[in-house]
Amino acid sequence: MKASLPLLLFACYYVFIVSVHGENQAERLLSLLKLKATHRIKWKESTMNVRQDDDNDTVYLSRQNGLKNADKITRLPGQPNPVNFDQYAGYVTVSPRNERALFYYFVEASKNSSGLKNKPLVLWLNGGPGCSSLGTGAMSELGPFFVKRDGKTLYENAHAWNKIANILFLESPAGVGFSYSNTTTDYAKSGDRRTARDSYTFLINWLERFPEYKNRDFFIAGESYAGHYIPQLANLILKNNRNKSHTTIKLKGIAIGNAYVETGNNVKGIYEYYWSRSLISNETYNLIKSTCNFDVNEDSIDCEKDMNLADDEHGIIDYYNIYAPVCSDSDSRNFMHNGLGADPCSANYIKSYLNLPEVQKALHANNAKLSYQWVGCSDWNDSPESILPDIKKAIKSKLRVWLYSGDVDSVVPVTATQYSLKALGLPIKKKWTPWYHKGQVGGYYVGYNGLTFATVRGSGHMVPRDQPERALELFRAFLENKYPSGVSNV
Ligand SMILES: *[C@@H]1O[C@H](CO)[C@@H](O)[C@H](O)[C@H]1NC(C)=O
Ligand SMILES: *[C@@H]1O[C@H](CO)[C@@H](O)[C@H](O)[C@H]1NC(C)=O
Ligand SMILES: *[C@@H]1O[C@H](CO)[C@@H](O)[C@H](O)[C@H]1NC(C)=O
Ligand SMILES: *[C@@H]1O[C@H](CO)[C@@H](O)[C@H](O)[C@H]1NC(C)=O
Ligand SMILES: *[C@@H]1O[C@H](CO)[C@@H](O)[C@H](O)[C@H]1NC(C)=O
Repeated sequence: MKASLPLLLFACYYVFIVSVHGENQAERLLSLLKLKATHRIKWKESTMNVRQDDDNDTVYLSRQNGLKNADKITRLPGQPNPVNFDQYAGYVTVSPRNERALFYYFVEASKNSSGLKNKPLVLWLNGGPGCSSLGTGAMSELGPFFVKRDGKTLYENAHAWNKIANILFLESPAGVGFSYSNTTTDYAKSGDRRTARDSYTFLINWLERFPEYKNRDFFIAGESYAGHYIPQLANLILKNNRNKSHTTIKLKGIAIGNAYVETGNNVKGIYEYYWSRSLISNETYNLIKSTCNFDVNEDSIDCEKDMNLADDEHGIIDYYNIYAPVCSDSDSRNFMHNGLGADPCSANYIKSYLNLPEVQKALHANNAKLSYQWVGCSDWNDSPESILPDIKKAIKSKLRVWLYSGDVDSVVPVTATQYSLKALGLPIKKKWTPWYHKGQVGGYYVGYNGLTFATVRGSGHMVPRDQPERALELFRAFLENKYPSGVSNV
C-alpha cells in the first residue's frame, strides 16, 4: 500500500517537529516510561504479539557497487571550509518487498589528527524511541557541524567525535528522520525487533558499499532509548556472525549514555531523583512510594495520580538537564550561554536547516521523488520490560560494555542506572573513583567485572552536547579500553 504524495508531505512536516524537538523527545520517553510502569499488563498484551511479515533468518543483501561515490557529500550548505575529512549520506534499502530504506550520515575521521591509526568505525544511535540520530546526535551532540541560529549556516564542533573515530549516524527505524517505508502500514509495526533486524540489514549492506571498513574494529554508541536498541543489535550481530554466509562484523564493544534498560527501576529512580534534587516535596515522594510498586507487575491508577502530582510540583523544567534553561519561543534570541549546557532552542535551528531543499539535496535525502517521511514518534510496539538479559549476554560474549550517565538528567537519572547496575549484580573490581579532565573532576567511575560505569559531572541526558570535552575524553577512554584518568590540578 502506498501513501499519496500530499499526505506524505504533510506527515513529513508534522512529524519532523515531533522528532527533533528536544522537549518533545524528553516527554516522549518519559510518557512511555510512565505508561509502561502504570499499565504494565495492558502494555504487554497489546504490544508483544505484533506479527512482522518478514520476521525470519534470511538477511536481505544487495549489490552496492558504485553507490558509495554517489553518496559522497561535496559540501553541506553553509558549511565552514575547508575540512579535513570526507562525509557521505544516503539510503540503504533494508526491505525490497516493502520498499523500506534507512538513511545514514557518515563522517570519516579527521585525516590529520594524531593517535589511533586505522581508526575504528562507530555506529551512533539516538533514542526516543523514534528520534533522529542526524538531527539530534550529529547536529547537536557529537557531529562535526552544528546549526547556527539563522537555521541556514553551520559552525564547527570543536569536540566532534570524528577527531578520533569514523562515525556513522543511522536514522532508525523507518519513519524516523529521513528513513522511510513506501508501505505505510510498516509504521504501525515499529518496535524493538524490527529496529534491530533492519539496523543489522543496514549494516551488512552498508559494509558492502564501504568495503574498506569491513575489517575495522566496530563499536556501537548511543543514548537513552538506545539502551534498548544497542544491546539488542549487538546480540543480533553476534548471532549472525556465527552464520558463515554473512559478513563478520568486528564488533568490539558498546557504550550507552543514560541508558533506558528497565522500566520499574527507571521510574523508581526518576522519583527518587526528583526528590533528592529538591524538585518535589517530601510528602509527594512519600505518597508515590506508598502507591507505586515498581517491582511488581500491576496496573495502578493511584500511582498514576501521584505521579501527576509530582509533575505539578516540579514545574516546567528541562527534564533532560534539570538545571538548563528551557527554550521559550518568544525569547529564544535572548538566550545567553550560561555554562550549563547548550542553547536550549537549537532543535528549532536544526529543524529549519534540515527542511531546506538545498540541504536535503546535498544530503541525498530527497533524491527519490520523495517518499521520505518524518513520522516515527507515533507508534511503538514490542518493548521488553528489561534489557538486562541482553546486556548480560553481551558481557558473556566478552564485549566491552560501558554505561555512562550524565548526572543532571531526570529522565534516565543516575539513580535509575544505579538500580539496574545493582540488579545486574556484577562483582566490583575497581571501586568508585573520581576521574579528572583538565584538572577538575569530570565524573566518577566503577569497574565491574565485564562492565564499566562512569558518570559525567554536570551533564544532562545528552552528554556530548552538555559536556563536550568530558564526553570526548570518556569516549577516547572507551575506545582505548582504559578507565578514564587524569589528575587534580589542586
Ligand atoms: C524472509 O525475509 C526475506 C528478506 O526480508 C524475504 O525476502 C522473504 O520473503 C521472507 N520469507 C518468508 C517466508 O517470509
Ligand atoms: C544464514 O544466513 C542465510 C542468508 O541470510 C539464511 O538464509 C539462513 O537461514 C541463515 N541460517 C541460520 C541458521 O540462521
Ligand atoms: C519508494 O517509492 C519511490 C517512488 O516510487 C521510489 O523512488 C523509491 O525507490 C521507493 N523506495 C524504495 C526503498 O524502494
Ligand atoms: C589538522 O590540520 C589543520 C589544518 O592544517 C590544523 O589546523 C589542525 O590543528 C590539525 N588538527 C590536528 C588534530 O592535527
Ligand atoms: C520525609 O518523610 C519521611 C516519611 O514520612 C519522614 O520520616 C521524614 O522525617 C520527612 N522528612 C522531612 C524533612 O520532612
